[in-house]
Amino acid sequence: MNKVTVIGAGNVGATVAECVARKDMVKEVVLIDIKEGLSEGKALDIAESAPIHLFDTQVKGVTNDYSATANSDICVITSGVPRRPGMSRDDLLGINANIVRSVTESFVAESPNAIIIVISNPLDVMTYVAHQASGFPSHRVFGMAGVLDTARFRAFLSMELGASVKDIQALLMGGHGDTMVPLPRYTSVGGIPITELLSEDRIESIVERTKSGGGEIVQLMGTSAWYAPGAAAAEMAEAIVKDSGRVLPCAVCPSGEYGLSDLFIGLPVRLGRSGIEQIVTVDLNESEQALLDVSAEHIRSNFEDLRRVLNQSEA
Ligand code: APR
Repeated sequence: MNKVTVIGAGNVGATVAECVARKDMVKEVVLIDIKEGLSEGKALDIAESAPIHLFDTQVKGVTNDYSATANSDICVITSGVPRRPGMSRDDLLGINANIVRSVTESFVAESPNAIIIVISNPLDVMTYVAHQASGFPSHRVFGMAGVLDTARFRAFLSMELGASVKDIQALLMGGHGDTMVPLPRYTSVGGIPITELLSEDRIESIVERTKSGGGEIVQLMGTSAWYAPGAAAAEMAEAIVKDSGRVLPCAVCPSGEYGLSDLFIGLPVRLGRSGIEQIVTVDLNESEQALLDVSAEHIRSNFEDLRRVLNQSEA
């Protein structure tokens, strides 16, 4: 694989481009945005760090010129607008759905065989929009949320236990937000389940902090995160480029796994050169499955909101 395109050169997009470039695994990264000069400037800045970080990946920035993205192997979509004062949640949903739809259409016209990773929020809905707009099979369109949420869960566990993040493995399913389903039974430190290391109360409070991990950062900075989201998408891209078969949680469209279908929701998958190679199923107990079902219901209601907003704008 030779080429990764990142759409949207804001905080998250630029971080994805930098993280991918630093992995030195593809020939070229193309950063594209509608704001004149933004992609060009950020791409040049990243390229100027190459002699320090020692990567050979070329980083190129363009303004709305999709011909520069032609024949990409992977596309990461981060474009969107933040909520401004006076803008309702519905307004934001409609605007961002239109942005994701139009950038997807422009991109796939140039790269019909690519794999698309969506980061734009609300994630589960925007992944659906990109899937519809691309016409690609669902194993080539999926969302980045679980890798970020799992990283947050692992970071908080490391802080709590004083353990190395290298030894902490975690599993998390469901939507990206309040209804995400961290799975302590499948979370371990050096192979030891955390249920053996921490009290139920401590686990519960770390789970709650993970669920509101995005909000905690917004509270602190007044804007959403970019270092961990950018690194998370780059890790997914690496699993695809290297065909490594890594098992990572991604927002995917299940066909019956965990009793779910017709939506995009976070589940563990095996990632490789063709995208999603397998949705991995593990046994969930009754309460875990119930939490996943609640999360799925929540995502379905977001889809309903999207349909309503799009119908209104067509009417
Ligand atoms: N085509 C290309 N780029 C666009 C378009 C478009 N049609 N519309 C908007 N953009 C660009 C903006 O110009 C901006 O540079 O998308 C970029 C978004 O960047 P930021 O506002 O900095 O947002 P960021 O923090 O990067 O988050 C991007 O990721 O985690 C999610 O919730 C977050 O949905 C948001 C996305």
